[in-house]
Amino acid sequence: MIGETIGRKFARLATNAAVRNPRLWTIFRPLVRRQFDALAPVWESMRLEDSLAPYEAALETLETPPARALDLGTGTGAGAFAIAHLFPEAKVVGADLSARMLAEAERRTPADLRGRVTFQRADASALPFPDGSFELVAHANMIPFFDELARVLAPGGHALFAFSSGDTTPIYVPSGRLRAELEPRGFTDFAEFTTSRGNSLLARKADRT
Ligand SMILES: C[S@@+](CC[C@H](N)C(=O)[O-])C[C@H]1O[C@@H](n2cnc3c(N)ncnc32)[C@H](O)[C@@H]1O
Repeated sequence: MIGETIGRKFARLATNAAVRNPRLWTIFRPLVRRQFDALAPVWESMRLEDSLAPYEAALETLETPPARALDLGTGTGAGAFAIAHLFPEAKVVGADLSARMLAEAERRTPADLRGRVTFQRADASALPFPDGSFELVAHANMIPFFDELARVLAPGGHALFAFSSGDTTPIYVPSGRLRAELEPRGFTDFAEFTTSRGNSLLARKADRT
């Protein structure tokens, strides 16, 4: 219990530090990776049934289904599976720092999603994808790295940020802060969603001019 409280506080500290100054991420990265490697075997038992409610509420409003989607900080893959179920034509990549989380995600991949949903070890602060690779870049309870997500998102594509327990989620960034980071990077059409416990923000990257 004390360990869990410290872990939650540490996750918030790492989030705040990385959002304020992404260069600090090099200090936090090995510690965060170790934290989630340790949590991987029990992560599914820690997730509540409605954890993805704010994530799905935003996805359901997308008028154009994404052809290629990226779930950053995918953990055990729930967000990637949700995108694939909602958009049956989409190819979905789930990326995470933690090899143990990804092993769980691979193990949990339903047979009908194999091939369409793939998992890849990657750091969201330095993604191994070319510019404009995805029409959707989604984050569920994940630290955002704004330059990289803006780079890999195609013009006109959407970025999604969801927090299962609103402002009590350990990895949480207030909507105002998200907007302040996204607006100068050319994002528009902000939409906010609240569910019984959680909240999310959807934003659209401007079309190429
Ligand atoms: C709080 S968990 C959320 C997992 C999943 N999205 C969910 O909601 O169940 C955060 C995940 O993000 C991963 N993560 C944290 N920082 C990351 C980074 N810079 N790049 C990739 N993954 C990262 C962690 O390893 C962990 O699996």
